[in-house]
Amino acid sequence: MAVEISEGDLALLVFERRRKGPKKYLVRVERGKVFHTHLGPVDLGELIGRRWGCSVEVKKGIARVFRPTTADIMEKLGRKTQIIYPKDAAYMIIKSGVRPGDLVVEGGTGSGSLAYALSLSVGPTGKVVSYEVNPKFHEMAKENLRRLGVRNVELKLGDLRTDIAERDVDAMFLDMAAPWEVLPAAREVLKPGAPLAVFVPSCEQIKKFAVAARDGGFGHIEVVEVLVRGYEVNEQRTRPASRMIAHTGFVVTSRKLVD
Ligand SMILES: C[S@@+](CC[C@H](N)C(=O)[O-])C[C@H]1O[C@@H](n2cnc3c(N)ncnc32)[C@H](O)[C@@H]1O
Repeated sequence: MAVEISEGDLALLVFERRRKGPKKYLVRVERGKVFHTHLGPVDLGELIGRRWGCSVEVKKGIARVFRPTTADIMEKLGRKTQIIYPKDAAYMIIKSGVRPGDLVVEGGTGSGSLAYALSLSVGPTGKVVSYEVNPKFHEMAKENLRRLGVRNVELKLGDLRTDIAERDVDAMFLDMAAPWEVLPAAREVLKPGAPLAVFVPSCEQIKKFAVAARDGGFGHIEVVEVLVRGYEVNEQRTRPASRMIAHTGFVVTSRKLVD
């Protein structure tokens, strides 16, 4: 990993704020480009050659400059759909045991947030195939992933219920309103025993999906809600932050049964 910032790198500018939490901007480092923040302009060209973790003085404050993490990029991705948050994506991916070299099918693509996280987990020897029925979202996700330089994700315009062309799939991920409609296709394309992880925002969807999965040849069904609570730390008083993302959705994990 490079120590210094280069032209063309994505960089995260972070302004610490006492009560509200940090204000963050995701920028592309370019010579001659000025980026306007809430505390003043930052000359992005002047970052070139400086080390990651450096501080930049702007008119009314100080920005720290970091190489963006997967979570930073997912949170800042251009979006026209609800996205999967890093906390949920992390759980879904680890729980499903996705490894470098795997073939993963996911959908709907939406803004491409989960597709991006999966692309890093399968690595250059693996592949993510992501299906989306809505051409507008399909195009937007294409642009998002192109900008991030992602090469191991194939975005397909198609319906997960009827159009999955891949076979011997190592793991499948669904984030869509009616995931139970994809169960027959998932059974057909997944390898024996392979994981299916589903994200749903409501309890009604959990029940409908879990019952259909149980009746449709899936087992080891588990449902969780992933809660992440931040803490404010200072010398006088350390306590839970008053604000948190209280609800995103639920994760239902399962495995394809055979025999
Ligand atoms: C909440 S968004 C997915 C967000 C995505 N996981 C992300 O992290 O950016 C749900 C998407 O599923 C798509 N969708 C719904 N039913 C579908 C189907 N049968 N096949 C493919 N895509 C579908 C919708 O058009 C929508 O874009």
